[in-house]
Amino acid sequence: MSVDNKMAIQIQKSDTTKISEIDFNNLSFGNVFTDHMLECDYRDGKWQTIHIRPYGPISMDPSAKVFHYGQAIFEGMKAYKDTEDAIWLFRPDENHKRLNKSAVRLAIPEFPEDSFFKGLEALLSLEKDWIQKKEGSSLYIRPFVIATEKGVSASPAKEYKFMIILSPAQSYYSGEVRVLFADKYSRSASGGVGFAKCAGNYAGQFYPTKLANDSGYQQVVWTDASTHENLEEAGTMNVFFRIGDKLVTAPTSDRILDGVTRKSILTLAASEGIVCEVRTISVYEIEEAAKNGTLLEMFGAGTAAVVNPILGFSFNGQDYELPTIESGYASFFKDKITSIQTKNSEDKFGWTYKVRE
Ligand code: COI
Repeated sequence: MSVDNKMAIQIQKSDTTKISEIDFNNLSFGNVFTDHMLECDYRDGKWQTIHIRPYGPISMDPSAKVFHYGQAIFEGMKAYKDTEDAIWLFRPDENHKRLNKSAVRLAIPEFPEDSFFKGLEALLSLEKDWIQKKEGSSLYIRPFVIATEKGVSASPAKEYKFMIILSPAQSYYSGEVRVLFADKYSRSASGGVGFAKCAGNYAGQFYPTKLANDSGYQQVVWTDASTHENLEEAGTMNVFFRIGDKLVTAPTSDRILDGVTRKSILTLAASEGIVCEVRTISVYEIEEAAKNGTLLEMFGAGTAAVVNPILGFSFNGQDYELPTIESGYASFFKDKITSIQTKNSEDKFGWTYKVRE
């Protein structure tokens, strides 16, 4: 990637820090934010100067298009610190590319790569103390773009705000995860926005996920909208199934998010000699595998969750429990990925990126 190091960034430092008030051993995901945030406005046809300022509320006209038409996209990334206190990111170029893929689909102007990296690195350097070295800890990075132009005409805005906020994180799902295979509601449709990380994709899942929660399931695994027969993704994670020794996951498409953790697992599996099939997965195949005992594992993969074991699923009103596996693929991939991310093992794929402070 090419980065213009001379790019100007206006930095206004906070006079105070909240860091001493934070209990880093008891963080619930995404509730605590660091002292600073990054903002960059788009107007007159171009992205303006990047500002880093004390974290706080932003003000917008009530008619801003983001409030009415949901013209908003986001990303999720994580920063880690190695034993020498250097800051590292995991495949950040993938997040930048995906942000712009989402931008194009939502008719939002793309955010330049050099500004993305320069701004993010300046913000991370300032917030370095918030990156904990403890196992399982990271600093979750949330870049996002919202349509700020005022006016309720239903058309793409001419003004936007790109922001980055940072949140110290431990695990995303701390309890047990059981899922419901969707048989009524849908997350995405062919030709829609399922592949984009846009705000509405998530809002649309809240109601059916709440119904699932009320019935005792933590997540919904979405199926294709037309037949509800093929398993797609879990909304906050891509999903993998282990049948015997084989790993199976759905192919990405315009309905499924192209997850960075997902593609890292596929590469790791290939290099470890684990057979992995990327193909359509029918709910009936998984039901049958659960019945005949060959379904050994299910897990979700995503930036926030990393790799999260799924202990059981419900399909057609029937609950299925997966066997307890001592050292399964889920823990194998989680350990592999987190040890690469935290620089505790060799990064033979060149996935880690050292932040220039
Ligand atoms: C992520 O894994 O970074 C996501 O964006 C999922 C989010 C809902 C926490």
